Amino acid sequence: MQTIFVTGGAGFIGSALIRLLIAESDWRIVNIDKLTYAGNLESLAEFADHPRHVFSRSDICDRAAMDDLFAAYQPAGVIHLAAESHVDRSIHGPGDFIDTNISGTYTLLEAARAWWSALDAEAKAAFRFHHVSTDEVFGSLGDTGLFVETSPYQPNSPYSASKAASDHLVRAWHHTYGLPTVITNCSNNYGPCQFPEKLIPLMIHNAVSDKPLPIYGNGDNVRDWLYVDDHARALRLVFEQGVPGETYNIGGHNEKTNLEVVDTLCALLDELKPRHDGRSYRTQKISVADRPGHDKRYAIDATKIQRELGWTPQESFESGMRRTVLWYLENPAWVAHVVSGEYRQWMDRNYGDRQ
Ligand code: NAD
Ligand code: DAU
Repeated sequence: MQTIFVTGGAGFIGSALIRLLIAESDWRIVNIDKLTYAGNLESLAEFADHPRHVFSRSDICDRAAMDDLFAAYQPAGVIHLAAESHVDRSIHGPGDFIDTNISGTYTLLEAARAWWSALDAEAKAAFRFHHVSTDEVFGSLGDTGLFVETSPYQPNSPYSASKAASDHLVRAWHHTYGLPTVITNCSNNYGPCQFPEKLIPLMIHNAVSDKPLPIYGNGDNVRDWLYVDDHARALRLVFEQGVPGETYNIGGHNEKTNLEVVDTLCALLDELKPRHDGRSYRTQKISVADRPGHDKRYAIDATKIQRELGWTPQESFESGMRRTVLWYLENPAWVAHVVSGEYRQWMDRNYGDRQ
């Protein structure tokens, strides 16, 4: 049984990736996560005692802790997702983004390089350091065009600048030291277990809680939405089959304005959980002040990963949104625990001795 590290495995995408890897692969996963506000082991409740899921509460900025983990578990590779991920938080307080996304990635790269340098030639060639990044590093598009792997980097928010910096570090560790790295740049994800600060889970939670649905500006900013399990499948493919030194764009060909997204959610909720007074959830929409520096449009050209690795998304926007709304309606305790802060006590009760 070979081991890989997944950093940020208690987060939204990391937990989806671990669910996929446990169900469909033979990897043993060491899940390295600091458990910031965004880390929630309740998303992995079913794997608390699984023999192929080892949890380590560790900070990727802690070099000694990373060295100890490499020595203890001898991984065949790393899929690195741990990050501060929310643009609005980066605007209000960029410090943690610089620390985790830039310094943390640097620390992890150095720990990985030290471990990898001592391997024999065969293990060295097979090793992968996979950095999970975002399409936001490319900046903002006008009305037309798509991001390709060679699009210039033009990050606009503290979050995207910190992710761009970490992409550059990963690239440099490949070119300078030969560390076998791959980078993926993905568009907006949605699905189960997403922290309800992000657009889609926030809107679902506010809608059913009879709260306003706050739309930044006039709601015509465009994002390219991808169901999280499709991203997880792409990550596995790139980790196992991607070419060292390469980058791969991942996206769902689902460009929607924010208003279209919110209206879709309202229509699904009107059908699945009608408001008590019979009015549409759309009546809860309000326009609020725009995000400073709000990127206008993101859209991904995913031709390369489709052509070279055979990846295509399985969910359409319609099927993925329906799945997502149903999940939040059927799992009210997950959101309630996050909103009340109870998820931290849940982790202490169920993972306390392993943190
Ligand atoms: P998330 O905020 O849900 O999860 C991040 C996880 O990282 C949390 O579990 C948190 O506890 C952990 N973490 C934070 N700082 C840490 C540190 N110093 N040491 C160890 N663990 C730490 O994020 P997400 O939405 O799942 O995103 C995961 C990755 O994918 C990020 O790198 C993000 O930039 C990237 N990404 C996200 C999206 C998206 O739409 N959410 C799209 C493209 C790329
Ligand atoms: O493109 C990939 C990126 O997508 C990831 O790298 C980030 O980690 C992830 O958070 C996401 O960034 P966005 O800023 O696009 O996601 P967010 O859900 O915060 O916002 C989506 C859009 O909705 C954006 O145009 C802002 C708008 N919005 C958001 C919130 C939270 C609103 O109009 N109202 C809101 O309350």
